[in-house]
Amino acid sequence: MHRTVELRLGLLAVIITLGLLLYAASVEEERMAREATAQQACAVEVGAGLYDQHCRTCHGADGQGVGQLGPALNERHFFTQRLQEVGWAGTLEEYVSATIALGRVVATRPLYAGDGVVVMPAWSQAFGGALRPDQIRALTAFVLNWRATALGEVTLLTLEIPRVRLDDPQIIAQGQEVFVTAGCGRCHTVAGLSDGAIGPDLSRVGALAATRKADTNADQYLRESILIPNAYFVQGFEEIARENMCGGILSEEQLDMLTAFLLSLH
Ligand code: HEC
Ligand code: HEC
Repeated sequence: MHRTVELRLGLLAVIITLGLLLYAASVEEERMAREATAQQACAVEVGAGLYDQHCRTCHGADGQGVGQLGPALNERHFFTQRLQEVGWAGTLEEYVSATIALGRVVATRPLYAGDGVVVMPAWSQAFGGALRPDQIRALTAFVLNWRATALGEVTLLTLEIPRVRLDDPQIIAQGQEVFVTAGCGRCHTVAGLSDGAIGPDLSRVGALAATRKADTNADQYLRESILIPNAYFVQGFEEIARENMCGGILSEEQLDMLTAFLLSLH
């Protein structure tokens, strides 16, 4: 009689312990899942900041691509067909992080070929770039975060991002400041401001810009010249242009200001 009671009690203890353990495990699992989501969200957020700083000039603020500078990263094709197109055997995540780390010396599509310049610089510190492995992971998470909208699973309200007015005197004045602080004057003359002579005289570039390239307006031409000087060779500067970069890393805002300033030079 006694033994049965003892046995039952023992069994009960085992069941209770097991239940507690199962409960603890499920809580832990939930906690870990929550943590993973939080970590992912944090990486995406860090990636957004880095993207804004380093990538949006060529790929667009929303990953929509920018003319001949860089392809869209936020569209269905990129998420569904791109790997097949380039014959990449790994995952999209590996493709994105490898592209960011290594950059692209030669474009895979003629539209982005430029003029034999490196079309996308390498970002990994291992290849002379500016970013650490964790920053490349954050950028990769940020780019892949466009999947849901690209595949039409979620639609976002589009916010109008106010573009600056390129004829606003205040923006022009700020552009002049950027011109000075970014060291453009080392290579370029602007009458009354700088006397650099490695690159073309920019004193009247606002008037010349529209005439440089067929089907490229002045605004686009200036942006392109600042970002990839070799996209067009000014007569007499073909050789020197190969070794000289104009823009380095400018923010979209600085690029707007500089463009406004250069457009005002007549
Ligand atoms: C100077 C312009 C430029 C900058 C800056 C730039 N990219 Fe690119 N990127 C390109 C071009 C051009 C290509 C594609 C060329 C090709 O192969 O057709 C490309 C390709 C890519 C691809 C692969 C897209 C595809 O369709 O295969 C990814 C992903 C990418 N870039 C991410 C980034 C990220 C993230 C950054 C910022 C760290 C960045 N890029 C900065 C120009 C740029
Ligand atoms: C190290 C020297 C150097 C620096 C610094 C430099 N550039 Fe240039 N830039 C050049 C050279 C060389 C060319 C001519 C390249 C060509 O024709 O492809 C050029 C071309 C240009 C052009 C096209 C001019 C035209 O007449 O079509 C513009 C615009 C320009 N640069 C703007 C800038 C701005 C803005 C800065 C500062 C952010 C800057 N550059 C910094 C060397 C430089």
